[in-house]
Amino acid sequence: MAVTKEQVLACLEGVPSPEGTPLPRTGTLSDVVAGDGKVFFSITVDAAEVKSWESVRKRAEDAVRALPGVTSALVALTAERKAGAASARPGPAAPGGARAAPRGEAMQGVPGVEAIIAVASGKGGVGKSTTAVNLALGLAALGLKVGVLDADIYGPSLPKLLAIKEKPQTLGGTRLKPITRYGLTVMSIGFLIDEETPMIWRGPMVISALTQMLREVEWGALDVMVVDMPPGTGDAQLTMAQQVPLKGAVIVSTPQDLALIDARRGIAMFKRVNVPVLGIVENMSYFQCPQCGTRSDVFGHGGARHEAERLGVPFLGEVPLHMTIRETSDAGLPVVATEPDGAHAQIYRDIAAKVRDQLRGASGGRAAPKIVIEA
Ligand SMILES: Nc1ncnc2c1ncn2[C@@H]1O[C@H](COP(=O)(O)OP(=O)(O)O)[C@@H](O)[C@H]1O
Ligand SMILES: [Mg+2]
Repeated sequence: MAVTKEQVLACLEGVPSPEGTPLPRTGTLSDVVAGDGKVFFSITVDAAEVKSWESVRKRAEDAVRALPGVTSALVALTAERKAGAASARPGPAAPGGARAAPRGEAMQGVPGVEAIIAVASGKGGVGKSTTAVNLALGLAALGLKVGVLDADIYGPSLPKLLAIKEKPQTLGGTRLKPITRYGLTVMSIGFLIDEETPMIWRGPMVISALTQMLREVEWGALDVMVVDMPPGTGDAQLTMAQQVPLKGAVIVSTPQDLALIDARRGIAMFKRVNVPVLGIVENMSYFQCPQCGTRSDVFGHGGARHEAERLGVPFLGEVPLHMTIRETSDAGLPVVATEPDGAHAQIYRDIAAKVRDQLRGASGGRAAPKIVIEA
């Protein structure tokens, strides 16, 4: 028997909010989509309270998953900016670019690597890593030789997203041999920094770890290296953006207002360090029913496209919130590699093609990049 919306709501009565109110009575729930054993809904809370709600989201998801007849449950936690909250629109740069942090003058490229691009987001959990991996696979599907560098100190994702358990071997005692997966050459900060390392230590270690990952890894010849950046726009991110000789940045955002504010900050950060923004990807753009394919714009989709237009930044595409993307991603079976004929893979390949085209443009007509363009 397929589970009903009413059953889901009844079960959520047993999940309390951080204040102890049963979830369905908190006014935070979206409509509950329940069809053929698959359940989806979102919890929308004030931005300042997101942290305390993460465990509620998890408990709700677990509770629904445990209901008889439920095969999978997806509960999204989304944040809402309070009306009247300060706008985070980046201030204008000082005349003469005085605020612009200099990009490391001696910042050299990585030998053999044609273009390094960052995948970034203003905040975590928007699907940055999922996008980075599938974009990398999309670029590879276009015939490019692609590497992925996981530089997300707060949550290295590549070991999980690509199901990598082995540690990279050292070559001649000094250089590291990257891991190869689905045709991608891969290196993760997760291989170098222990998960148990307290965050306070990670910061200072990051730059040296990053330099090591760029310079002391046998990347071989690559057309593109995709860097999964740490989320946010603080000092750590800025320093990293300056440390890596980036050809461009791809910003991942969800459609909500708050995520867009973060995306705006991200764009401002890259502009400050003179890294061209190759475009914005709207992730979890709309909810697509796994059975009937019907789409519902649970988050008011289209925000990122609009924002991109407003900021004069290319819009690269919309990725739906879809169970398959989550499941494949979390199982280390990225959808572009494992379901190459599916609609999701096509979406990522289209995004990849736009990124490739942007990269051609970003070379500014100087020496043409050695990127192979498939007719
Ligand atoms: N388009 C999508 N549809 C469904 N789930 C997604 C989608 N994109 C990401 N996810 C899921 O959301 C969670 C966060 O994604 P992740 O890529 O790790 O984000 P980030 O790197 O920004 O923290 C993961 O469980 C991932 O599988
Ligand atoms: Mg991540």
